[in-house]
Amino acid sequence: MDQNQAPLVNALAEYHRLERYGFTPPGHRQGRGADPRVLEVLGAQTFRSDVLASAGLDDRSSSHGYLKEAEQLMAEAVGAEQAFFSTCGSSLSVKAAVLAVAAGKGDLLISRDAHKSIVAGLVFSGIQPRWIQPRWDPELHLAHPPAPSDVEKMWERHPDAAGCLIVSPTPYGTCADIAAIAKICHARGKPLIVDEAWGAHLPFHDELPTWAMDAGADICVVSVHKMGAGFEQGSVYHLQGDLVDQAHLAACADLLMTTSPNAILYSAIDGWRRQMVQHGRELLGNALDLARRLRAEIDALPGIHVLEDELLAVESSHDLDRLQVLMDLSGLGISGYQAADWMRENARIDMGLGDHRRLMATLSMADDDASASRLMDALRALIDAAPAMAPAAPVMLPAPKDLELETVVLPRDAFFGATEDVPAREAVGRISAEQITPYPPGIPAIVPGERINSAVVDYLESGLKAGMVLPDPADPKLHTIRVLRQ
Ligand SMILES: Cc1ncc(COP(=O)(O)O)c(C=O)c1O
Repeated sequence: MDQNQAPLVNALAEYHRLERYGFTPPGHRQGRGADPRVLEVLGAQTFRSDVLASAGLDDRSSSHGYLKEAEQLMAEAVGAEQAFFSTCGSSLSVKAAVLAVAAGKGDLLISRDAHKSIVAGLVFSGIQPRWIQPRWDPELHLAHPPAPSDVEKMWERHPDAAGCLIVSPTPYGTCADIAAIAKICHARGKPLIVDEAWGAHLPFHDELPTWAMDAGADICVVSVHKMGAGFEQGSVYHLQGDLVDQAHLAACADLLMTTSPNAILYSAIDGWRRQMVQHGRELLGNALDLARRLRAEIDALPGIHVLEDELLAVESSHDLDRLQVLMDLSGLGISGYQAADWMRENARIDMGLGDHRRLMATLSMADDDASASRLMDALRALIDAAPAMAPAAPVMLPAPKDLELETVVLPRDAFFGATEDVPAREAVGRISAEQITPYPPGIPAIVPGERINSAVVDYLESGLKAGMVLPDPADPKLHTIRVLRQ
């Protein structure tokens, strides 16, 4: 195929050139009806390009196949057999993968550091999660991906599970040994789904961690908006091999998908693929050089340590995406929550992830010397400001075994069961009917159907006092927790 083409971008240019007009949605009619004050902020071109995907960009039967061709180009570019674009984020794509593999019933092996969107897939489908425990790091208090031996053990205990799902890279940039895990799954004739939401760029530079399709995964989901140059919500899921039926996977995605996909999102994914094929090695190579330099410069700052060796010195963390610059702030005596708030307020910089002791800068191919200097200046100013800040509020971090809550009821049955809201302390020993997720990184501390323990409640309550955000429970301040009625 001609990778210099971008069929969706070309179709949009042609739409403009021909001055097409639709007596169809969107009702703003390429911006003609939009409020000028909105146009001024969002840009006339944004509205101009917001056209229907079928009976707009393509004709009513999509006879030109612009989307299909763009998807085929993507599959070829990254070495997958098939690729599908989605405008509802990896949140949709992972749910579709879960539904397609587990066929709406039975067991699925899932790494317990899964993103909350996977838990939503469990609620929709009624699937029984068989949790593979990630390697909890008791020193750093973060989860590394599960090791191949952890996956093997779970297959021995649950040989009838439909497949296995792992997250790699984790939101901290650490990567699983996907090739070894895929081999273990395939020895049993079972598919491996890799949630690679943070890895859209991986196929395009050989100094980045191994791309899941190269490592033998059957389905791999990426968010183009995270590490690529797509718009928010742009996602692609890739398929290879014959363990998952392509038509069924597409039908599962169709169940969840909007009927009005955004042509701007599709076109941006298409254009980004062309850009990566033509210039990805150079652009990502520059980003990696910048990351190496910044890592050393930040690590030399007083009170800040850039994590690297300690993230790799565990059996399960096979590799690291060095564009994710994870900084330990313990030496400054402040938390990542405080630092993130300070950076936004004082330096007008938003950071990728902040927790009880860390702050992350997610670099991209768009970063350059100017953005790097801005980050360095802001970090130096943060160091100067830190002594005047209140000391970091203590977060009561659970021991790894306390994070392994017992699944008593199917997530779906717990979520849709008869519930009551009880004071958080009284929820200890009860079965949660809701998901409770510190965000970022979005890994649920409590999943519906799990028995709540006091260590996790202590962690969440103390975390909230320290600045943690819990967007999903009925009471985000956690005065009460929604549990199954007894
Ligand atoms: C590991 C992981 N999977 C899936 C998602 C969902 O991705 P999206 O925001 O594209 O819906 C996220 C989002 O942060 C994530 O971190």
